[in-house]
This record gives sequence, structure tokens and C-alpha cells, in this order.
Amino acid sequence: MTARADAMEAARDCVRRARRIAVLTGAGMSAESGVPTFRDAQTGLWARFDPAQLASEEGFRADPPLVWRWYAWRREAVARAEPHAGHHALATAESGRELRFERFTLVTQNVDGLHRRAGSHDLVEIHGSIMRTICLEHCGYDQADPVQVPAGEPPRCPQCGGWLRPGVVWFGEALNPSRLAAAEAAARDCDVMLVVGTSGVVYPAAALPGIARRAGATVIVANSAASELDGEAQLLLRGPAAAVLPALLAP
Ligand code: OAD
Repeated sequence: MTARADAMEAARDCVRRARRIAVLTGAGMSAESGVPTFRDAQTGLWARFDPAQLASEEGFRADPPLVWRWYAWRREAVARAEPHAGHHALATAESGRELRFERFTLVTQNVDGLHRRAGSHDLVEIHGSIMRTICLEHCGYDQADPVQVPAGEPPRCPQCGGWLRPGVVWFGEALNPSRLAAAEAAARDCDVMLVVGTSGVVYPAAALPGIARRAGATVIVANSAASELDGEAQLLLRGPAAAVLPALLAP
């Protein structure tokens, strides 16, 4: 058996014995659905666009229409994308139709909604959702359906008159405390943490595998390339999420 096949067999065995599973996904999870990652050379969004301009409050305040248009473009792209076999394998695993777990919590850094569309319910979207619109002034306005994109400036908040902005976490912003607490609780209290398609450079999400490992969980990292989280992993599965997850989670 090759080392790769060995790792898959060992990982399948771990998953089968686990009662509580936590999963952390990143942009690589959605790559095969056609949603670009952030840091892959050439194709990653941050190779082509400036995050300071497009993913920060300062950038938005400097040019609201530019940032609003960029997110409108991304919303349209994710609305066209479909969940792949890996998203479905995670949703099926949570449903208990095939494997039985006490708890299966999916923490995602992805804002594209593909896990929800695939049927995952115990889901923590720690970086928010591109399909929501919130108020820049934090007045509490938060709407699920994206407001239609006006030609020029972004719309104004119907509650306070401030700018509306996409419901995603930008650089320099704190994560929603209850979502972060839910993600950390899932990491602290799992037998297996499965980390899929993330470079592991953005905190606090990247700290979750370490939390799980220190609490005694087995950490499995599935990625098509090396990542910053490989050092946390007892088991490394090298391959694309759409192939690795169905193989790992098949009964
Ligand atoms: P990155 O773009 O940093 O990393 C994507 C990872 O996915 C890399 O490690 C790739 O090797 C891996 N990958 C690519 N294709 C894959 C595939 N088909 N199967 C498996 N793995 C694959 O994306 P994230 O780690 O998610 O923040 O980035 C973290 C955060 O940085 C994002 O949530 C975003 C960004 O700025 C916010 O939106 C707040």
C-alpha cells in the first residue's frame, strides 16, 4: 500500500471510531465548485485584487461603490456555483444516514453558502456570509437577501441611514463572538478535527486545529498542497476536497 493509501485508511478508521467530529473548511473546499481561493498563485483573489482596498472598512469608506461592485460580482459568481461531492459528503455525514456521530459541527471560513446549500445544518460561518447585507455603522441591520445592486453607490441602511455593506468579516475586524465561541467549543470538544482546504494563515480560525489537538483530538488535514496547519496534523490527506471527502466519509 502507498503512504497515501495508508493515510486514507488510518483516517477512515479514526473517523469511524469518533463520536464527535469538528470540521474546519477554507476556500480550497469551494475551488472545485468554481469559486476562486484567496492565496493560490495566479488564480487566488488576493493575487489579483488588493485586500486592503476590497476587504477592509478603510477600503470601503475610501470607495464604497468600488467595494460594493466587487462583492456584487462575487455574489453572482457564488450564486452560479453548485456544491460538489465533498460538500455533499459532509452534509450526509452530519445527517447520520450512513455514519453515526453524536455531533458533527462544521466550521467554515467560506462566505459562499455552499455548505448550507448542500444541506449542512450544524454550521458555523465564522467569516459571515456574502449573501447577507449588514450596516457599516453596526446599528444591527442584517438582512439575508442581498439587496439588488444599484448602479452607483451602495444602498443606505433603512434603519439608520448608514452605508450597507456585505455581511462578511473584513481584515482588522473581530469575529462575531458567539460564532467564534461556538467554533472554539466544537474544537475543544471533538475526537477528530478535519481541516479541509485552508492555508491556515488567518487567525483566529487557524488556531482551531491547535485547540483541538491540545484537547486530545486527532487532527486530519486534507489539502491539495502543503499548508501552515500540516504541523498540527497526525494524518495528512493530500488531494482535492471533492475526491478526498467522499472517500474519507463513505460508510
Ligand atoms: P486560502 O486561499 O488562503 O487557501 C486555500 C487553500 O486551499 C490552500 O491551502 C490550497 O492548497 C487549498 N486548495 C486549493 N484547491 C483545493 C482543493 N481542490 N481541495 C483541497 N484543497 C485545496 O483560503 P483560506 O485558508 O480559506 O477571509 O483563507 C482564509 C481567509 O483568508 C478567508 O476566509 C478570507 C481570506 O482573506 C475572509 O473572508 C475574512
